[in-house]
Amino acid sequence: MTDETLSNLLTETRTFEPPAELAAHANVKADAYAAAAADHEGFWAEQAQRLTWAEPFTQILDDSSAPFYRWFADGTLNVAYNCVDRHVAAGTGDQVAIHFVGEPGDRRDITYAQLKDEVSRAANALTDLGVTAGDRVAIYLPMIPEAVVSMLACARIGATHTVVFGGFSAEALASRIEDCNAKLVITADGGYRRGSASALKPAVDAALEKVPGVAQHVLVVRRTGQEVAWHDGVDVWWHDAVDGASADHTPEAFTAEHPLFVMYSSGTTGKPKGILHTSGGYLTGTAYTHHAVFDLKPESDVYWCTADVGWITGHSYIVYGPLANGVTQVLYEGTPDSPHKGRWWEIIQDYKVTLFYTAPTAIRTFMKWGRSVPDGYDMSSLRLLGSVGEPINPEAYVWYRSVVGGDRCPVVDTWWQTETGMMMISPLPGVTAGKPGSAMTPLPGVDADVVSEDGVPVPNGSGGYLVLTKPWPAMLRTLLGDDDRFVETYWSKYADQGWYFAGDGAKKDDDGAIWLLGRVDDVMNVSGHRLSTTEIESALVSHPRVAEAAVVGASDETTGQAVVAYVILREGIDGVDGDALVQELRNHVATEIGAIAKPRSIMIVPELPKTRSGKIMRRLLKDVAENRTVGDTTTLADRSIMAALSAQAPRPV
Ligand code: WT7
Repeated sequence: MTDETLSNLLTETRTFEPPAELAAHANVKADAYAAAAADHEGFWAEQAQRLTWAEPFTQILDDSSAPFYRWFADGTLNVAYNCVDRHVAAGTGDQVAIHFVGEPGDRRDITYAQLKDEVSRAANALTDLGVTAGDRVAIYLPMIPEAVVSMLACARIGATHTVVFGGFSAEALASRIEDCNAKLVITADGGYRRGSASALKPAVDAALEKVPGVAQHVLVVRRTGQEVAWHDGVDVWWHDAVDGASADHTPEAFTAEHPLFVMYSSGTTGKPKGILHTSGGYLTGTAYTHHAVFDLKPESDVYWCTADVGWITGHSYIVYGPLANGVTQVLYEGTPDSPHKGRWWEIIQDYKVTLFYTAPTAIRTFMKWGRSVPDGYDMSSLRLLGSVGEPINPEAYVWYRSVVGGDRCPVVDTWWQTETGMMMISPLPGVTAGKPGSAMTPLPGVDADVVSEDGVPVPNGSGGYLVLTKPWPAMLRTLLGDDDRFVETYWSKYADQGWYFAGDGAKKDDDGAIWLLGRVDDVMNVSGHRLSTTEIESALVSHPRVAEAAVVGASDETTGQAVVAYVILREGIDGVDGDALVQELRNHVATEIGAIAKPRSIMIVPELPKTRSGKIMRRLLKDVAENRTVGDTTTLADRSIMAALSAQAPRPV
């Protein structure tokens, strides 16, 4: 983030008070902060009572092997029972759990009672396929109800799921299947995106060829009806295995620290990290924050989170938190502009959505399309708007509040991470006066600070690194198979203090409110998705024509950041057609990682700016990519390089 943006942010003075009506009936009031501060563990033990435990816990937090914290460790529960069965048992089985909207226009309402039957059938089917507690299952599905059912079926039998976003390549899928040793893969023939059927099964077939002997079966949902290659003995249709299974299934209780899922996320090295979340603490944290931050009234609210279940937001705020709270929610398969640019607003109008959760990149896209699109729909049902994934710039916040929220809905800007599992820094809608661009303050029960390099909390008005100073129940437990990397990445920078290092820069304003300023490591944030510069660089150099590559995240009006790559070609390759090669390299990255990682632009350059010790100076490449005057070059080994690079303007978007 540039200094100019920073000073713009900090001169932002607008504030929006909570609506009086909401404040009067808010689920969580101002006293929660003091109560949680006075008794951190007691506060979370109380929140854990939102769940139904098979065996109650007697110990709240076990910090004896910190940073390998354990929460509620001697309690037992079944996560799927908590998300489904207990609502049926409590008499709300007829309430709609999911209003499913397919992109082509098909719709399906699923009640809690129906969801219970479907999850039970799927659990029986998985058991029949040989999946048992502790096994890993990879899920590679579009945004269809079967994705939710698959996750819950795994949870029900104690299998650990790893959902791989449908936009990831066969290569990325294969490495995840291998890393977590998945016994089963659940996929579909395809899904609908932008008005057409987009295949998924071929990527699974290719992945299994790359890592033979890992997965034993592939369970295939028929969604689009498109042609699929079939492997007898391996492939099984969902409608054969699940539809025919019994809807009776007794959920077994597992310990609170039983692994629930692994979510892979990009780090600063080439290899994605398998972030491990467990059961009791995770469900407590997501259920509490969903209740508090959305002021959820499950009997009257209709909730919609537009994330994909392939990301942590979908796990915590489509599946686990909301279903544990017994919500009615919308699940939409497709893109916001299919078949028309008002699709989301039409869905809000049709289902009278009251609570809406989306990402700044989407809001900025709608701003570009113009307010006349949302103005054509009745969105008076909305009462609260949420944002997640990256800092929301004040203009987008104000547009969201005014155009989508009719100036009556508070906006909650929620900061959290795949690792935190749950929202950490966010306004409380009935308490906090929101400032556009700030995530405001840590939630009750969460302790965060902004500190200097050497671990001193900065005074108000200053910036530094964001740290989390106390453990929280939904925290990651480790990186799958790599405890050392877990300690090194998050707990070593402030080991003396025992703080969690988030990897984000932040600033406290004069009132102590927190403004997030983006990553401080080599991680980019493109449309709210985390991408590693190193991972994309490795993908580029895996192409036979590339000798060396450097990747930077350049600021982008719509996606927050965009991938910009610089490549040096191998010598002795003749007849290079620059444009064709750039296209080929962009596609190569999509094949290696996924379409989301495709560079916005690639510059073929003769040299990269390096220090005398050989370190690529990405800061300078970022200056070029953002069309800025190039900064200090005194540490460069060869200062003439920058003049040559700057002359080569980035390709227009
Ligand atoms: C990184 C985590 C949390 C689910 C989606 C992304 C950035 C996330 C905000 C926000 C400013 C934010 C941070 C964080 N981030 N939310 N409200 N304001 N920055 O999850 O892929 O784990 O990425 O996203 O940089 O570290 P993720």
